[in-house]
Amino acid sequence: MTSATTQQPRHLLSLLDLTPAELHSIIDRAIELKALLRSGELHESLKNRTLGMIFEKSSTRTRVSFEAGMTQLGGKAIFLSPRDTQLGRGEPIEDTARVLSRMVDCIMVRTYEQSDLALFAAHSRVPVINALTDLFHPLQLLADIQTWFEHRGDIKGKTVLWVGDGNNMCHSYINAARQFDFRLRIACPEGFDPDPAILASAKNHCEIIRDSLAAAEGVDLVVTDVWASMGQEDEQAKREVAFANYQVNDILMEQADNDALFMHCLPAHRGEEVTASVIDREDSVVWEEAENRMHSQKALLEFLING
Ligand code: CP
Ligand code: NVA
Repeated sequence: MTSATTQQPRHLLSLLDLTPAELHSIIDRAIELKALLRSGELHESLKNRTLGMIFEKSSTRTRVSFEAGMTQLGGKAIFLSPRDTQLGRGEPIEDTARVLSRMVDCIMVRTYEQSDLALFAAHSRVPVINALTDLFHPLQLLADIQTWFEHRGDIKGKTVLWVGDGNNMCHSYINAARQFDFRLRIACPEGFDPDPAILASAKNHCEIIRDSLAAAEGVDLVVTDVWASMGQEDEQAKREVAFANYQVNDILMEQADNDALFMHCLPAHRGEEVTASVIDREDSVVWEEAENRMHSQKALLEFLING
């Protein structure tokens, strides 16, 4: 750590930890950093800074985007797996947070319980980032909103359709609807609704519509995610039955606006929540979404570490 921290650090445990103005400035900065990288200009705003990365669940995009992003900004990222840290052998979360945050400048955590993440943040001297919990996935929303802005401009007032499970991604879309002021239709089967308190917090922005085809009518953006998230693997068969009418396919996309985009945080299960034909459509922006994880997280790291 480069300086002793006296005041409480800012964290990103959910999208609600930042103001709408801060979120917009991170999106703008992400677009700038993307252009800067493409121009070949060196931009080492986090030189000699270190990001600690605790992964209690698998990852491809999150890990690589943070590692590559820190390299590009002149810093370094350290991958920490519970398999070979003392956290995995029962060292308390609080103690791990106290120790790591005396050595590194920012820590991202991918874990199960939001309460474990909050506990970690409460004992950290440096900013803590939610890199996915069972409840939220705010980093994916930074990338998704950046991708929307790049293609279509402001998302304020647009209508987004979430199809599938009321899961961590859905919860972050609900928060994003509040923060970026768009309308969110949620097409999910009964029994798989988003958390009622999270939904109620955004009741002016969100509605549940059980019929996915009716819900898709005229929407500007269609988004989905896997039917069984990490940790729910043993529910796969049951969920395939429950979600059978909630697949994003060409028929559903036909209901959407002519200019509608398709997004998916990935990894995707082709033939389940989305058909291969939709992922490969021209209006599918899933690869840019994945790339934008890196640009938006660089902007977030600059904001949290440099202020
Ligand atoms: N979308 C996303 O978070 O991907 P990973 O699980 O590969 O990090
Ligand atoms: N809902 C998924 C998102 C993966 C990026 C999960 O939690 O597994």
